[in-house]
Amino acid sequence: MHTIENLQLNSQGKLQHFLSIEGLDKSLLTEILDTAESFAYISEQQVKKFPLLRGKTIVNLFFENSTRTRATFELAATRLSADVLSMNIATSATSKGESLLDTIRNLEAMQVDMFVVRHSLSGAAHFIAQHAAPHISVINAGDGRHEHPTQAMLDMFTIRRAKQQFSGLRVAIVGDILHSRVARSQIHALSILGAEEVRVIAPKTLLPAEVESLGVSVYHNLAAGLKNIDVIIMLRLQKERMNSALLPSESEYFKCFGLSNDKLTIANKDAIVMHPGPINRGVEISSSVADGPQSVILQQVTNGIAVRMAVMSMVMRRKTGTE
Ligand code: NCD
Repeated sequence: MHTIENLQLNSQGKLQHFLSIEGLDKSLLTEILDTAESFAYISEQQVKKFPLLRGKTIVNLFFENSTRTRATFELAATRLSADVLSMNIATSATSKGESLLDTIRNLEAMQVDMFVVRHSLSGAAHFIAQHAAPHISVINAGDGRHEHPTQAMLDMFTIRRAKQQFSGLRVAIVGDILHSRVARSQIHALSILGAEEVRVIAPKTLLPAEVESLGVSVYHNLAAGLKNIDVIIMLRLQKERMNSALLPSESEYFKCFGLSNDKLTIANKDAIVMHPGPINRGVEISSSVADGPQSVILQQVTNGIAVRMAVMSMVMRRKTGTE
């Protein structure tokens, strides 16, 4: 039985699946960022196609809704010349375990090469990677509250482009950390890449119990937490994952934890503002900040394509012999 960590890597230490940031090392994350730089260059040319995955079939298996992630995975695959099948499979209480495996077996029978999986259950992508045929690569596009590794890498790419390096950087992640797979992946990636400090800023009800064990400092006051900060990552309130009232009201939340222009001036002058999307204007971020000069929110979306091209090409490399 493979462990979660080594399931992602083959015997030469190369990526064969991309399931979580946890368990990867700095050189591998840096390789993803450097590979993405070359794909970002291609994406800026008139002809955006590259024949690296010609003849390969990639299945986007989305058991949960998505706009940005699904669209950018699809564009990344087509820019690498792969054939792409995008499936939107609504989650139902019974579509777990064997029925998930049945879906996979049927798609495998169609001779596909890669699954890009989003699922509301933590561990779903690992489960598929453990059970899929050995030639198939699995990329986690978000599993429950666990991880969203390609989102974290496009965020790291955006940070590196804006700030050049991770050493010395102070990063604040603000909002619904409890339900956020993005925050979990970002915290791992920032610590592996050597950021100086990662702060989480949230009300107590929106923080997981074990959060300090991830190596972050915890703040419950936005103004205090934003001092000396270089990168601010705002998170959406994931109401679809809240099964009880964790907050008084949205307007109260905005007053305490929403990023307005006033609050933004507390951070370093050249701080960048990020958000994985979808944004809720007036709930966690004001429109003037989201659309303002310090926001890199749309650059994150653009960078998502190059980063996903990088990850897809790296997991397929062991089979295409292009090393
Ligand atoms: C995030 C997700 O789905 O985890 N969005 C994304 O992938 N761009 C965050 C969210 O839904 O708030």
